Order: sequence, then structure tokens, then C-alpha cells
Amino acid sequence: MSETGLGRREMLGATGVAACGLALSACGSGGAEAKPNLKGRVLAKTADVPVGGGKLIEDLRVVVTQPTQGVFKAFSSACTHKGCQVSTPRDNVIRCACHGSEFATDSGKALKGPATAPLASFVVKVEGDGIVVA
Ligand code: FES
Repeated sequence: MSETGLGRREMLGATGVAACGLALSACGSGGAEAKPNLKGRVLAKTADVPVGGGKLIEDLRVVVTQPTQGVFKAFSSACTHKGCQVSTPRDNVIRCACHGSEFATDSGKALKGPATAPLASFVVKVEGDGIVVA
């Protein structure tokens, strides 16, 4: 059996594992390839994503943010340090509890290490009251 990125994603989807210590293959991937194909998927309702905060969708491994009123962003919830799932955003910061990295809710940019790479981002649009992957 080949060790392809697709196989790795399928495995992550099947297990739904969020903790780094329980998903060693995800932890070692560096996060850049941890972005699933979610085109057309409704991630959240706009009313469920607070301004300055966000919503973590654990089973999809996505975090949706609203850095300013009416502006919605979505990122992979896989930390680019070792792949742990980040926490629900607060105060316009997405934090990873594993080793303390912090990311901006407007760009996914790493604000504090040890992570240096930004969170992988999704292009999203608002359709009705839903935030949808474009
Ligand atoms: S895995 Fe997120 S800071 Fe290390």
C-alpha cells in the first residue's frame, strides 16, 4: 500500500483524531498537506461565528473565523508545527495548546512560534446564512 497524501487524509477522516500524540502521521506532515477537499461544503452558519472569534469544526478539521464584522475566513485546524488541532479562536487569535503557537484569524499567519508557517486557508463565501467553501 502506498503512502500517498490522499491515503493519509482518508485515514485522518476515518479516525477523526484531534490530538497530536494519537495521530503520528498527521503530526509529522507539517500541516501544509492536511487540507481536505471541501468545495461546496457548508462549514457553519454566520450567526455561529462571533466577531473576533470563530468556530472549530473538529470533524472537518477546519476553523472558521470572523476577524471583522461580515468578513469570514476558514483555515485548516491542523497546526503547522506538529499537526495538533488548534483551539476555538478568541480575541482574533487561533491558539494551539500543544506547544503554544498562535495564528492570526484574518490570514492564518503564524504570530507566535514554534510554528512559522501559516495555517492552510480555504476560499469561502457566504450563501444565505451559511459559510460555504468556494
Ligand atoms: S503542534 Fe501546534 S504548537 Fe506544536
